[in-house]
Amino acid sequence: MSETKLPQSSSSSPVCAWNEWDPLEEVIVGTCTGAVVPPWHISLAGAMPSESEAFFKEHGGTPFPQERIDAANRNLAELTSLLESEGVKVRRPKPVEQALPYAAPDWSSPSGVYNAMPRDLMLVIGDEIIETPGAWRSRYFEFKSFRDLLKEYFHAGARWTAAPRPELTDELFVQDYTPPAPGEPMRYVLTEFEPVFDAADFVRCGSDLFCHRSNVTNAAGIEWLRRHLGSEFRIHEIEVEDTMPMHIDSTFMPIAPGKVVINPDRVKKVPDALRHWDILVPPRPTIPDSHPLYMSSKWITMNVLMLDENRVVVEENEEPLIHAFKEWGFTPVPCPFRDFNSFGGSFHCATLDVRRRGTLQSYV
Ligand code: GLY
Repeated sequence: MSETKLPQSSSSSPVCAWNEWDPLEEVIVGTCTGAVVPPWHISLAGAMPSESEAFFKEHGGTPFPQERIDAANRNLAELTSLLESEGVKVRRPKPVEQALPYAAPDWSSPSGVYNAMPRDLMLVIGDEIIETPGAWRSRYFEFKSFRDLLKEYFHAGARWTAAPRPELTDELFVQDYTPPAPGEPMRYVLTEFEPVFDAADFVRCGSDLFCHRSNVTNAAGIEWLRRHLGSEFRIHEIEVEDTMPMHIDSTFMPIAPGKVVINPDRVKKVPDALRHWDILVPPRPTIPDSHPLYMSSKWITMNVLMLDENRVVVEENEEPLIHAFKEWGFTPVPCPFRDFNSFGGSFHCATLDVRRRGTLQSYV
């Protein structure tokens, strides 16, 4: 592995992060206030646990039970305190009412979803913050809760970009989609009608980014980002075995120079670019079956946040994972987060690292 220093963009920007592990200085932490059960749409068929379909069909568009929201918000408050105690500046979005219907010329949505997962909506590459073209109609206006922060960062010098707003018309979705059975060839709910992607389908390792095609990120979305970032960056699409792909950060998580955590159920072939890296295979999650996970698999345990290339924020109940991180030479920083996990994410999803102290380098 070589660490080659490359030419820099502006470093005086309030927004600057090149990878997943440089020392964290400023972060946005989402909120569950106002969270609404996603209204059912075919786009969810390829991304949400199949057991949740009936729940979404019955309760979609109505608020999650208040006690679940309160419990998840307590987790977010714990995370905020932990980050602040480690010297990280924490910013919070403005909760925006989600239980309201809205319409575009070609479609309507009974509601929004939440303001909980800034990782999905925005991608920070150096001093640029890119708003992503999400594929869910119910998340179309989710950026609204983050706009005050984005305007502040813009006025302070950040580059602020929005990818082309998708139309999200019926042509984007395979209307009779069903996920493949294990062993069947992969098929996706998204067509290539227009570019769509979530930022959480990309992870950053300096001048190399890794991504996977998923049921919220199509090939055109990956190509849009590749052309947008230009020749200074390489985007590697990794092969995964996941019949319900949505977001790479429970599948493939680079956590330090030369170290990547891979999901043993999903990553069968490590990209050639990382052949000199340490491949860390985490122990299986211990989340009990009785714990509700409406919007993710148990592998949400892998969705960790690095405070720097040594300290890793990890769910406090995941003893085997905490032990593994110690064995691998990291310092685990445990935090309660199971109630937040019920909403489909963990520490990486719930945050957006706005500023990490570091420079653009090549690590592969
Ligand atoms: N969406 C990531 C997972 O469920 O594992």
